[in-house]
Amino acid sequence: MTDETAGRWRGWRAAAETALYGPEGFYHRPEGPAGHFRTSVHASPLFAGAVARLLGRVDEALGRPATLDFVDMAAGRGELVTGVLAALPSDVAARTRAYAVELAERPPGLDHRIEWLTEPPRGITGLLFANEWLDNVPVEIAETDSAGVPRTVLVRSDGTERLGEPFSGAQAEWLARWWPLPAEEGLRAEVGLPRDEAWAAAVAAVGRGLAVAVDYAHTLGARPLFGTLTGFRAGRETAPVPDGSCDITAHVALDACALPGGRVLTQRAALRALGLAGARPPLALASTQPAAYVRALASAGEAAELTAPGGLGDFGWLLQPVALPDTAATPLAALLVDVPDHEEQ
Ligand SMILES: C[S@@+](CC[C@H](N)C(=O)[O-])C[C@H]1O[C@@H](n2cnc3c(N)ncnc32)[C@H](O)[C@@H]1O
Repeated sequence: MTDETAGRWRGWRAAAETALYGPEGFYHRPEGPAGHFRTSVHASPLFAGAVARLLGRVDEALGRPATLDFVDMAAGRGELVTGVLAALPSDVAARTRAYAVELAERPPGLDHRIEWLTEPPRGITGLLFANEWLDNVPVEIAETDSAGVPRTVLVRSDGTERLGEPFSGAQAEWLARWWPLPAEEGLRAEVGLPRDEAWAAAVAAVGRGLAVAVDYAHTLGARPLFGTLTGFRAGRETAPVPDGSCDITAHVALDACALPGGRVLTQRAALRALGLAGARPPLALASTQPAAYVRALASAGEAAELTAPGGLGDFGWLLQPVALPDTAATPLAALLVDVPDHEEQ
């Protein structure tokens, strides 16, 4: 941190903005996010394969346009878009324009077919996919004081906190609508308004197609009493200190982000609908084709990790169709229409 910000009391939103995205911020470090935590993208290439199948279904729903866009929103080092391009059937890949949208610099050696941007392109025809973006959009933290009034939590760059002013205006309205805090001292909430706005802006870049946001999520009625703000450094969870040394993240109120027509599924339900099974291969294969058996076993293990209860499988997928024809008759129906409850668990 610079001398200017060290020791200064600021709301968590401004403090995290500098700590993550400022000139010396965490996300400009050369090792990239994968050096500090593992997302579904890093867990297995099966994830990119499922996203490629989703892009295929969007393609069909759009009537196979001459140019199909795939936008990896908050792309990290471009790992997902690289995997999706590799997994696409060649006829679809030939029509696909691939974009990575990221605040960090383009990594050296990235596939020349991938365009690297800091904002999504306008008028996307296809799929915009944001994996673990919104949890890194900084928000204010609210904490109730001794009278039960939610106040802004102020923080210094060493992580010391104190309470500031009560909320007003749009943030107070958001809290009352999406994360009402009981009048009891010490309860905390994350004021997700900047995430709703960030998501609405990303969806507005889609002309026709689908936008998807994937994150650890919670919904109204089941918000965590003390919030979820935390840090990650070198693969370990750590105290969130806004000094640029660690990631600062908080789970996402995806139900608040959803625009009309949007729907939230678990990652488990979404990946199953996209054909990720995770069943163990039959034991008989071990004696007839041992190498294939070992490969199938490894793949089943990775699928199990991506869909695990208590882990990545509990992530939320917010699916937001934009100007798509009636999806009931398209291959997207399994994701967008009537998934029975048991499949969502
Ligand atoms: C947790 S990482 C996820 C990376 C990748 N999507 C994955 O799943 O592995 C979050 C990324 O979002 C990027 N990011 C945050 N806000 C952004 C914005 N407004 N536009 C583009 N990228 C952004 C950060 O720089 C960081 O690389």
